[in-house]
This record gives sequence, C-alpha cells and structure tokens, in this order.
Amino acid sequence: MSSNTQQDPIKEDGHIPDDPLTDHSYDGIREFDNPMPGWWKALFWGSIVWSAVYWLYYENGLTPDRSVIAAYDRALAANMEKQFSEIGELKPDRATILKFTKEPKWLAFGKSVFQTNCVSCHGNNAEGKIGPNLTDDKWKNVSKVEDIPKIIANGAGGNAMPAWKDKLNENEIVLLASYLLSVHGTVPPGSGLAPIKGETKVISDLDESADAPAGEEPQPGAEPGKDETTKTDAAPQSGEASK
Ligand code: HEC
Repeated sequence: MSSNTQQDPIKEDGHIPDDPLTDHSYDGIREFDNPMPGWWKALFWGSIVWSAVYWLYYENGLTPDRSVIAAYDRALAANMEKQFSEIGELKPDRATILKFTKEPKWLAFGKSVFQTNCVSCHGNNAEGKIGPNLTDDKWKNVSKVEDIPKIIANGAGGNAMPAWKDKLNENEIVLLASYLLSVHGTVPPGSGLAPIKGETKVISDLDESADAPAGEEPQPGAEPGKDETTKTDAAPQSGEASK
C-alpha cells in the first residue's frame, strides 16, 4: 500500500476510489477489481455464439450455398433461363448472328455480357485497349461472321484472348457476336489505337445481300445471276433464285 510512484494520479488529487480490490498483492501492489462492463462481455460472448450460428448456417457444407452472392448467381441463372426460353438454344451460325443484330432487346443483353467480361481488355465500347479494337474493319482471326463466336469460345493469340466457352453459354456467345457486329463500323471515343500485328483480314460475308449460302465474296454490283450457271446445282436454295 505504500507504493509511491511520482506521477500517481490517485496520490495527486488525494482521492482513492473505493472500488473493490482483488485479493492478491504483488510486492504490496494491489489491483482494483474492475471487471469489463456487462455490455462489453455481452458483445464478446455474443460474437462467439454468433460465429457458431453463422458457420452452421452458411458454411456447414451440407445445405446449398446460402450466401448472398450464391443466391444472386442462382437468381441470375434462373432469370437467364427464363429469358432464353423465349429464343431457345441459338446456333452460332451466320444467319442467327445477323438476325440478332436487329433485335434491340437481345443486343442490349449482348452488350451487358460484353460490359461484364470484355471491357477490361477491349474497352467500354469495343474501341480497343490491351485487346484490339473490335469496331474497325481490321481483323486478325476473323474473316467470316461465324469466326467471331469461334474466337470468343476458343480464345486466340495463345490465350492473350481467353477462351470463354466454359464461362459463357452458347447463347451468350452468339449474342456477343451480334453485339460486336452491331458496333462494327462505329468509331467510339478512344479508338484509333494502332492495329495489332496481323490484323489484315476483313469480314467477307457481312453484307446482307450475300445471304446466298455459296460463301463467295459479295461483289457490290455483281449480278447474282452472273455465274448462276455454275452454281445452280450446287446451291439450289430458294434464296438465290428469288434474288
Ligand atoms: C484478357 C484480355 C481480354 C479479354 C478479357 C477479352 N479479350 Fe478478346 N482479345 C484479346 C486479345 C489480346 C486479342 C488479340 C488476339 C490475337 O492476337 O490473336 C483479342 C481478340 C479478340 C477477337 C478477335 C479480334 C481479331 O481481330 O481477330 C474477338 C472477336 C474478341 N477478342 C472478342 C472478345 C469478347 C467478346 C470478349 C468478352 C467475352 C473478350 N474478347 C475478352 C484480349 C481479351
């Protein structure tokens, strides 16, 4: 009890609180018995109990993932399924891709998939960033409309362009291709980066008048009937005859 430190606040104003003391004494030094306040202990024990409840609810490994993120993903998938039931399973062919370039609702969908997955490399409006500009007429891996979904699915440039077939479903890939064609020819701000090495191709079957399945380059002004003689038996489809 006779401990005398120089700056002892108790000594200075002469007041010793009459709080209870613990019953031990070290070299005459005693300790007040001031337990943590009840609310503090309640928080402490409460958080321990809560962690157990939380773990059982979210992490028990038995029930499906109950996290908000998982619920969101499930809702998103369900919503997509519902929306896609309207259009069925799209084929990644030219006709389908071109068809959806004229459907604003699905273009908006393609755009949102692009915004989520592609802008980091290709820029907000496909103007190019680390990945090439996708709005111009210079392509490296694409010379036909159908090459676009192939590249998106399988990647290119030794994975510099990642493959998306495990992350996106077929419909998303087709609608991405339609979206890209819908911005083809626009000149978004920030475009004008130097083309990447090897970007020398042009999409040959973009022109809708080339709807004949012959796959020849559509020459502006070329008479569809011009070389019909050589083609008629190869492509007896109705499209050619009605043109
Ligand atoms: C990690 C960066 C990165 C991401 C993310 C990315 N790309 Fe690419 N993309 C590239 C690179 C780099 C190339 C050029 C590949 C090459 O050199 O052959 C490319 C090429 C392409 C091409 C072919 C261009 C051409 O001229 O041949 C298309 C189409 C394309 N990307 C679409 C997409 C779409 C759609 C997405 C989103 C689903 C996407 N990319 C996401 C980096 C990326």
